Amino acid sequence: MKILVTGGAGFIGSNFVRHILAERDYQIVNVDKLTYAGNLENLRDIEDHKNYKFVQGDIADKPFMKALFEAEKFEAVINFAAETHVDRSIENSDPFINANIIGTHVLLELAREFKLQKYHQVSTDEVYGDLGDTGHLPFETRPFFTEQTPLNPNCPYAAAKTSGDVLVNSWYETYDLHTIITRCSNNYGPYQFPEKLIPFFLFKSMNNELLPLYGDGLNIRDWLYVLDHCEAILLAFEKSNAGQVWNIGGHNEKTNLEIVEQIKSHVPASTSEIEFVPDRKAHDRRYAMDASKLERELGWKPKHTFEEALPKTIEWYLANREWVENCRAKV
Ligand SMILES: NC(=O)c1ccc[n+]([C@@H]2O[C@H](COP(=O)([O-])OP(=O)(O)OC[C@H]3O[C@@H](n4cnc5c(N)ncnc54)[C@H](O)[C@@H]3O)[C@@H](O)[C@H]2O)c1
Repeated sequence: MKILVTGGAGFIGSNFVRHILAERDYQIVNVDKLTYAGNLENLRDIEDHKNYKFVQGDIADKPFMKALFEAEKFEAVINFAAETHVDRSIENSDPFINANIIGTHVLLELAREFKLQKYHQVSTDEVYGDLGDTGHLPFETRPFFTEQTPLNPNCPYAAAKTSGDVLVNSWYETYDLHTIITRCSNNYGPYQFPEKLIPFFLFKSMNNELLPLYGDGLNIRDWLYVLDHCEAILLAFEKSNAGQVWNIGGHNEKTNLEIVEQIKSHVPASTSEIEFVPDRKAHDRRYAMDASKLERELGWKPKHTFEEALPKTIEWYLANREWVENCRAKV
C-alpha cells in the first residue's frame, strides 16, 4: 500500500514514519511544508529507507497537492500536518486556519477525487473543550471525554482542529469516503519542538532560568508517550471501520505544576524557581480521555508508564542538545 503521510517532519509525524517503516512494508510519501516545527533532522536515520520518500509542500496548496496525487497514486492518507501550538494560535490564527482547515479540505477533496481507500485524520482531545475543575473527584465519578462528548473547542488551535474533524465526518456521511479520526491526549517523547511544555521546562531548568507557569499551575492534562500514540494510530488505520472516531489516552493525569516539579527533580543542580504568570486566554482546566473503545474493540493498551518514559525522554533531550539548539535557532 502507498500512503501519503502529511506533517511527517514534525514531532508525532516523524515518530510515526519511523514506526510504520519498521513495522510494515508500506510505501510512505511524507509531505511536509517544513514550517518552524518541521525538521528533516527528525528523520535522518530513515531518509534513505527504500520505502520512504520526502516531498516539501503545503497541504493547503491544491494545485500542488493534486499534481502529487496524480503522480504518486496514493491509496491512503494519514494527516498529521497542522499548526499545533496553542499560544501561537492566540497570537495569530491565520496559519491555523490554513493548515488545519483549508489543508484538511484539500486532502479530503483529493481523497474523494482519486478514490483513496482510507483517509485518517490525526486529531486531539482539545476538540472536546473543558472538563472543568474535576480532577479532585474520585476516579469512578470523574468525567472523561468519550467519542460521544459534544465538540466544544475554546482556543483557535482547538477550533481549527475541530473544524477539520467536522469536515472529515461530513465527507464520510456525504461522499462515503472511508474516514477514520483518532483523537489523542498530550504527547511527550523525543523530537518534540522545545516550545512545548516538557522540553521547554527542562531547558529552562538546565539554564537556571525562571519557570513561568500559567495561572495556578493546576490545569490537568492526560500525558501519553508518543510511541503509544503511534501504535494506536497504526492499529486504527488498519482495523477501523469507516466513519469511526477513536479516543486515545493513558489515564495519566498530571497538573502542569506536577510536571514541572518532576522535571526539576531530574535537574537537581538547577537553581530555577517557579514563577506563576497570568493565565493563558481560554486555558481549559482539565482534559482526560476515556480510551476504552479503542481498548475494547481493537485491543490497544499503552505500553509505557510515565515513570519509565519521562526519564527516558529527558535523557534523549540531554543527549541531543544540538538538535534542541538548532530548533531554537529557527524561531
Ligand atoms: N503534540 C500533541 O500532544 C498532540 C496531541 C494530540 C494530537 N496532536 C495532533 O497530531 C498532529 C501532529 O502534532 P505534532 O505535535 O507532531 O505537531 P508539530 O507542530 O510538531 O508538527 C506539525 C508538522 O506539520 C507540518 N505542517 C504544518 N503546516 C503544514 C502544511 N500546511 N502543509 C504541510 N505540512 C505542514 C510542520 O512543518 C510540522 O512538521 C497534529 O495534527 C496535532 O493536532 C498532537
